[in-house]
Amino acid sequence: MDDMDTRPIGVFDSGIGGVTVFKEIRKLLPNENIIYYADTARVPYGPRPTEEIIRFSLDAVDFLLKQQIKLLVIACNTVSAVAFDAILAHTDIPVIGVIEPGTRSVVSRSGIHKLGLIATEATVRSGEYQKRLTQEEPNLQLITKACPMLVSLIEEGWGNTEISKLVIQKYMEDMKGADLDGLILACTHFPVIRAQIEEYLGPDVQIIDPAEETAKELERVLQERKLLHPAEGEASIRFYVSDKPEKFKSIVEKILDPRDIRQVSLT
Ligand code: DGL
Repeated sequence: MDDMDTRPIGVFDSGIGGVTVFKEIRKLLPNENIIYYADTARVPYGPRPTEEIIRFSLDAVDFLLKQQIKLLVIACNTVSAVAFDAILAHTDIPVIGVIEPGTRSVVSRSGIHKLGLIATEATVRSGEYQKRLTQEEPNLQLITKACPMLVSLIEEGWGNTEISKLVIQKYMEDMKGADLDGLILACTHFPVIRAQIEEYLGPDVQIIDPAEETAKELERVLQERKLLHPAEGEASIRFYVSDKPEKFKSIVEKILDPRDIRQVSLT
């Protein structure tokens, strides 16, 4: 019991996308207390310049550190791609991003020779996935596409509608004809519309969501650092958002059970 730690895990995304990672964490580690912070007043991050993404991310990290978190999960590919080092330099607690687990979820599968990658502009521009994936699999053919409008549609609650279906078709036209073996959802918002993407690309394309592998990585780090929560009692879950909570709540409720969501202003 001495090796256990009841402090919460901090989970951060620019918006509701990280909830797809949160869900996997809850499945694997139901005893852990979690504080989720979504910077809904400033989402999307993807089209912003690197310095701004770093500044916003550090604001979020400071907020979560004040909540005495024991570990931070960056449930955002954009932040993981451009602000990971700045965040590591900013805190002593363990930090987990989504790109390393994302890379692992691709290379651990067999039969992926040609891979599509959809993400935000900042993630594509950073070249992080391209670098890591080709280090592991030098012969991998990679086709990347920034799909910023999908983030906005999902934040608006318009995922899984006729509109998102059309936007998927528009962005992914080239990928559909490219004979892909797999597609990585390199933005944590995109698993929300996974079924529509799957339907458009057809059954021969494996859809890869880094969230499950991220939760496994979290479990490993908690074990290694002796930070696991003792298995007793009900976990405390809290969501904080930087904009009015109503919209976030109504979208999140479609993805999760209703939770306690509060507004907090960091600016
Ligand atoms: N959910 C975020 C990601 O994984 C980014 C969305 C955004 O703010 O543009 O990249």
